[in-house]
Amino acid sequence: MSEPYPRTVVVLAAGEGKRMKSALPKVLHPLLGRTLLGHVLNAAQPLSAERTMVVVGHGADQVRAHLAEAAPDAVPVLQAEQLGTGHAVRIALEAAPEASGTVVVLNGDVPLLRPETVAGLVAAHESERAAATVLAAEVPDPTGLGRIVRDADGRLEQIVEQRDATAAQLAVREINAGIYAFDAGRLRDVLGKLSTDNDQGEEYLTDVFRLLVSAGEPVGVHLAVDHAETLGCNDRVELAALRRLLRDRVNERWMRTGVSLLDPETTWIDVTVALDRDAVVDQNTQLRGGSVVGAGAVVGPDVTLIDTVVGPGATVLRSHAVGAEVGAGASVGPYAYLRPAARLAEKSKVGTFVEVKNSEVGPGAKVPHLSYVGDATIGARANIGAATIFVNYDGVNKHRTVVGEAAFVGCDTSLIAPVEVGAGAYVAAGSAISKDVPPGALGVTRAPQRNVEDWVTRRRSGTTSAAAAERALQGAPGVTSAASEGEAIHGAAESVGGAPRAGDTATE
Ligand code: UD1
Ligand code: CA
Repeated sequence: MSEPYPRTVVVLAAGEGKRMKSALPKVLHPLLGRTLLGHVLNAAQPLSAERTMVVVGHGADQVRAHLAEAAPDAVPVLQAEQLGTGHAVRIALEAAPEASGTVVVLNGDVPLLRPETVAGLVAAHESERAAATVLAAEVPDPTGLGRIVRDADGRLEQIVEQRDATAAQLAVREINAGIYAFDAGRLRDVLGKLSTDNDQGEEYLTDVFRLLVSAGEPVGVHLAVDHAETLGCNDRVELAALRRLLRDRVNERWMRTGVSLLDPETTWIDVTVALDRDAVVDQNTQLRGGSVVGAGAVVGPDVTLIDTVVGPGATVLRSHAVGAEVGAGASVGPYAYLRPAARLAEKSKVGTFVEVKNSEVGPGAKVPHLSYVGDATIGARANIGAATIFVNYDGVNKHRTVVGEAAFVGCDTSLIAPVEVGAGAYVAAGSAISKDVPPGALGVTRAPQRNVEDWVTRRRSGTTSAAAAERALQGAPGVTSAASEGEAIHGAAESVGGAPRAGDTATE
């Protein structure tokens, strides 16, 4: 089905947004995964416009840079001085003399606008063959907005700005959303006739309607069903309100597609995120950017995922992840930090106070506690004991560490890269490993242990430790001399190089 009219989209984004009190141009403020401008451009997407133009002015360089990255097909047009919305559209059309058919104009600060609503406005406009059609909404509080003024027969007569309105017009609650469809030819004709005879001394785009009406041209009003869609953003209080509205909209959509959100009010999901059925998102969780949560995965409470893919059935608890991949059935946290290119294979585990960067953790491999894993490849089912540090940086360059399949690295070990621990090899707890450990070997660098008998009773006499030692040495009842082993398990216990025990301890 071919479109009857070629379309041009013009987004007005040259204003400063003074009340934002920001170094960032208003339209570049972020809102759940897109800038305000990005949301507006997205709403215009289904129009399949021949060209999309963005009128830039304040912060033009920043806005241009954003467009180059986020909407490379959009053409920025400079409005050096902000002489009004009518002036802005005039400049845009002068830059596209070939534009014909329908011109759709959108304010750059109306981010909740739905694509369906813009499409509905344009469809109504084109089927009526109107000269101009404005998107209107009935709002509880119209303060500050342009009013839709109708004649006795209910036909649009003009749009009047708040500051130019009479008392009777101020009582009108039907407002101009700042979204319009125009016939290109007739729009060009009247844009040349706009005056600046108003309270702000600007060329008002809204005056186009009065001029068309008095020329006997057909104009229309298209009412938005949900007035929240037409809310603009003028300051950060309004921005926060828009963010809550969008959060609720996004959350409702995911719940209706089969995702459980245990506390929607504290769950913030960017519009760019994807979730699969039966995913569970627990409270205080932010899912941002290109993050994806697979079927049946559990994320939260207290999790932030940025551009992170979580596989089906995985668990991420009280953790922060950026640019990471968590494989199917893997377990992360509590209190893990996954950094870019952390890739956790299926059923692997990255536990408490563990940081992983630019590393592969193999299928079923475990890094359960207190470790830094940087620039490493960890083989399938390897076990990395608590407090293992992958020493990847020599102050100038980063180097890689490879740990083979089912290798066992004891607690409190430094693996000084570049280094390789072979498949099935063991590393004794407390070692600093800088030479490769062959497959199946035990690597150990520990100094032999020396016990100085009675040192505490001699050198720390009178302390509680000395008293405890004395009782233990006298075999006092109720006191044992062996320390609790807690969760630690003992690994290899073979004697090496005269050391009392080369064995080692790892945790599970
Ligand atoms: C405008 C409408 C008002 C409507 C409201 C909806 C006019 C005269 N009034 O008022 O009827 O109810 O939007 O939000 O159009 N801009 C430029 N160049 C300029 C001036 C503005 O690009 O010279 C851009 C702004 O960046 C903004 C948009 O146009 O994105 C609207 O401008 P703004 O000054 O916010 O108009 P309002 O006073 O809100
Ligand atoms: Ca505005």
